[in-house]
Amino acid sequence: MNVLVVGSGGREHALCWAISGSAMLDRLWCAPGNAGIAEVATCVDIGVEDLDGIVAFARETKIDFVVVGPEVPLVAGLADRLHEAGIRVFGPAANAAILEGSKAFMKDLCRRHGIPTAAYGEFDDLVQASAFIRERGAPIVVKADGLAAGKGVVVATTVEEAIEAAAGILGGRFGASGAKLVIEEFLDGEEMSFHALVDGKTALPLATAQDHKRVFDGDQGPNTGGMGTYSPAPRGTAEIQREVMDRIVDPVVAAMAAEGRPYNGVLYAGLMLTQDGPKLIEINCRFGDPECQVLMARLRSDVLPALLATADGQLDHFDLRWRQEAAVCVVMAAKGYPGDYAKGTEIRGLDKAAAVPDVTVFHAGTVTKGGKVLANGGRVLGVTAIGADIAAAQKQAYRAVDAIDWPEGFCRRDIGWRALKP
Ligand code: AMP
Ligand code: GLY
Repeated sequence: MNVLVVGSGGREHALCWAISGSAMLDRLWCAPGNAGIAEVATCVDIGVEDLDGIVAFARETKIDFVVVGPEVPLVAGLADRLHEAGIRVFGPAANAAILEGSKAFMKDLCRRHGIPTAAYGEFDDLVQASAFIRERGAPIVVKADGLAAGKGVVVATTVEEAIEAAAGILGGRFGASGAKLVIEEFLDGEEMSFHALVDGKTALPLATAQDHKRVFDGDQGPNTGGMGTYSPAPRGTAEIQREVMDRIVDPVVAAMAAEGRPYNGVLYAGLMLTQDGPKLIEINCRFGDPECQVLMARLRSDVLPALLATADGQLDHFDLRWRQEAAVCVVMAAKGYPGDYAKGTEIRGLDKAAAVPDVTVFHAGTVTKGGKVLANGGRVLGVTAIGADIAAAQKQAYRAVDAIDWPEGFCRRDIGWRALKP
């Protein structure tokens, strides 16, 4: 089978790496890919937002199956376009990807179906939004309704900060994504991520994985897309997983089907474990990045049949096998990330790092130029290791990190610490 993966990040490198080992695969393409992906797939220079270009390429190249990595093309309707062209696709149609594309849609769905989430209000007017914020008091959370590359959420500790955030968003900081606001109750507790494959009716939970969102050690500093991950995540006990499936994931899947928007693809729920049980913070219509890196490292089953079963509505009776070992992924980012950073700096020592036992170096933002690998983004590498437990995987991952010679990069030194505390 000919497969096309859409995307260019660490998540897509992990997907390509896993798919490239499939017994079902003939040829693997990636659009647009990166320097690491080029080692396992043929990269084609088509951007993830070029829906026409992707569909035309898939047709011409007789692609049998398209796996879409990022949310932007899904929200824009790439899966719909591929369905129209008669091509199988992993990833939800636009009317289901809206769970990530509109926070207001997600919240209203929860309200209609009694799914636990933070209390909230929706606003397109600053006067009303400010009145609501003053009435509720701080802490309070202000969110742009639409996609904002993970930057559209402000957890405000004062009323003034919340009003300023609301003014910024409604004033056009995120363009059309900020035409509407969701303002919600601050939830106290520990955060947990949850991934499940969903085929329209059936949800199959994946292994647990947890990211570290803050840029600095000890989970300090500004939010990022994720500075590292570990799997399994001890807080995702069997009991909590069952509760999340029963109270959140299965009800969301049933609600979407009942409303004529069957959800198909991977559903990534961000949760807060509160005193009143798990509550839904957000839904993403794609794999977490870098959660996908540790999930693929631990997946023992052939990934391609699982993605196909999801696309074809065949997940009932499907099962996945996972390695007993743990995995840790350490993100190496360009200095300055998540703020301004330089591109084009050279990364050396990748071969040495890859030679460390049980390690795979996934590329997130790299290009090759004149035989050199250059940084080409904020998050640049995802150094991923397997080990008997989190401590062993962490040790191997940092051995590989230390083999990489990239003075313009940095990483956290404590990925996995929450799983290691006594
Ligand atoms: P989101 O993009 O919705 O995941 O929000 C980004 C981050 O903001 C989350 O990972 C949480 O740390 C935080 N957050 C979002 N909503 C809430 C909430 N209602 N209460 C507390 N923290 C929140
Ligand atoms: N690691 C967080 C995300 O992918 O949204």
